[in-house]
Amino acid sequence: MSAIAVTNISKSFGKVRAVSDLSFTVGSGTVTAFLGPNGAGKTTTLRMILGLVKPDRGTATIHGTPYLHLRRPNTTVGAVLEATSFHPGRTARAHLTALCVASGLSTDRVGQVLDQVGLAAGDRRVGGFSLGMRQRLALASALLGDPAVLILDEPANGLDPEGIHWLRGFLRALAAGGCTVLVSSHVLAEMSVVADRVIVVNKGRLVVEAPMADFGDLEEAYLELVKEW
Ligand SMILES: Nc1ncnc2c1ncn2[C@@H]1O[C@H](COP(=O)(O)OP(=O)(O)OP(=O)(O)O)[C@@H](O)[C@H]1O
Ligand SMILES: [Mg+2]
Repeated sequence: MSAIAVTNISKSFGKVRAVSDLSFTVGSGTVTAFLGPNGAGKTTTLRMILGLVKPDRGTATIHGTPYLHLRRPNTTVGAVLEATSFHPGRTARAHLTALCVASGLSTDRVGQVLDQVGLAAGDRRVGGFSLGMRQRLALASALLGDPAVLILDEPANGLDPEGIHWLRGFLRALAAGGCTVLVSSHVLAEMSVVADRVIVVNKGRLVVEAPMADFGDLEEAYLELVKEW
């Protein structure tokens, strides 16, 4: 069974057709890049997978079950959707502890996820964090339930080259540990060393779904698409 299966989903906002009859699957223990230009429908698709937007048609499942029917969503799937806002006066540790309590998770996880994302500043107030540190804290939040599936919406945005390098290694290590990662991006090259598979969307439709080993063909198709755009 696919870790994530999206089947013929469509979603319109008024006259805007954000996602149009889109289908793809994501295999367990892989990193899959979800690529497309601005407005391609990436965030809308990820939100439908996470039960935050109701599709007009079609289904999205995680391990065969729609998100809203998962018995323990926190421990099944973790997500970072956009620049999350944190209470600036709280420390990273306090933020994560509050999330654990709210989700019924053991607070032992707090130290573990801080180590996992390499955030040494756990006892500093989040108000003083750099963008890269915030991204790490958002990732740490998503990992609290030790999920088997991780969904990340443009986690590389705003990271410096060192941060992007770190993120790639981090995602590869997660996949090596059996985690399934679906990660969106605008930039094919950014994903080329980390993703096993690539799904490209444009105007809400699937353009190509291929293994990263076909990078040459993918790059050509993606450049054409970006040129049009
Ligand atoms: N809540 C909403 N209300 C109205 N229109 C929306 C809403 N969410 C998305 N859209 C529209 O749907 C289309 C797809 O948007 P979406 O955010 O899914 O694209 P995206 O691929 O994530 O783009 P980006 O790369 O800029 O993040 C866009 O035209 C957008 O304006
Ligand atoms: Mg988006």
